[in-house]
Amino acid sequence: MEKKTEDRSPTNRAVITGCGSFVPSKILTNEDLARMVDTSDEWINSRTGIKTRHLTSDEESTAYLATEAAKRALQYAGLDAEDLGLIVVATITPEMVFPSTACFVQQALGAKKAWAFDIGAACSGFVYSLHLVHQLIENGRLDSALVIGAETLTKITNWKDRSSCILFGDGAGAVVLQRKQNAGRGILYSTVGADGTFWEALNCQAYGSRHPVSRPLDNPDKVYMQIKGREVYQQAVRRIVDAVTDCLEHCGLTLDDVAMVISHQMNARIIESAAKRLNLPEEKVFINIQNYGNTSAASVPIAFDECVRHSKIKKGDIVIFVAFGAGVTWGANVIEF
Ligand SMILES: CC(C)(COP(=O)(O)OP(=O)(O)OC[C@H]1O[C@@H](n2cnc3c(N)ncnc32)[C@H](O)[C@@H]1OP(=O)(O)O)[C@@H](O)C(=O)NCCC(=O)NCCS
Repeated sequence: MEKKTEDRSPTNRAVITGCGSFVPSKILTNEDLARMVDTSDEWINSRTGIKTRHLTSDEESTAYLATEAAKRALQYAGLDAEDLGLIVVATITPEMVFPSTACFVQQALGAKKAWAFDIGAACSGFVYSLHLVHQLIENGRLDSALVIGAETLTKITNWKDRSSCILFGDGAGAVVLQRKQNAGRGILYSTVGADGTFWEALNCQAYGSRHPVSRPLDNPDKVYMQIKGREVYQQAVRRIVDAVTDCLEHCGLTLDDVAMVISHQMNARIIESAAKRLNLPEEKVFINIQNYGNTSAASVPIAFDECVRHSKIKKGDIVIFVAFGAGVTWGANVIEF
């Protein structure tokens, strides 16, 4: 239920008070993939940095992963699900066409007071969601929210296409945001963008209104993700560099002020190439794609949770989240944790 009264105090801050993540237990290695398509551990690792990825079983759905990550984030924050004001799930692999995945999470958590909806901004979905929720909390419209990135991309993977099936994995990450007054920390700034002229670079076309289930597909592969890897690669590097530069300039920060940049994990080489252009030292760039592959909207919150739990990020640190994905979309958030 949305708050009826607004508290527009400029001291309202949207503070991340909890984080959590969850991945399914089944692991698919590069060696496993080499038995399925014409590829090798050497090729995959050298081009992408990926070694393994986690796969959902038939019984494990996006809402299930999201709920497990959410429980961990709520526990970290010490917040009761019943007190939540909003649940946002960033996903391109929703539980079903409708209702939203967020409504299933709301039901599973028993978060009776929360309104709930999904955001479909692909790999940028988590960063987009933080930007939106940040505004609602700072405007005094909301006291608390769960923002979750959750994906089961392996359910829309073409396991015969070696150029895409090596890339993706399943998982979920979540953060709890709470309105704090005079906290002196929280989400400081976000930048977001989109360019629909490049929609063909990354897509999954069936079954939407353009290719409804009632009509036979001209190409049966349209039920799977399709990517133009090289095109994505070049754009991703440029957009990540521009978004991080925008964050630094807008907030008057230097790289010395930033403890960690957490990029969407799409390809270790893309992240390293962007980091090099930004002159970011290696220890300030977190990469865990070797274990999870590309988990789209889930990758930033999974990486953030890992950093927090392994004390790579501490209270008061300045952290930049940055993402690029289908649409094409991109964005970044500056957080004082
Ligand atoms: C997908 C990606 C790893 C491919 O790497 P690349 O260096 O661009 O490779 P190319 O697609 O140009 O293919 C080079 C060759 O490798 C081959 N190849 C493709 N996948 C292969 C695989 N898994 N194993 C072995 N060979 C492979 C190609 O067939 C091609 O062979 P050819 O030269 O004989 O035609 C890389 O482009 C990438 O990571 N792109 C972005 C990923 C992405 O879109 N993520 C989702 C969005 S966030």
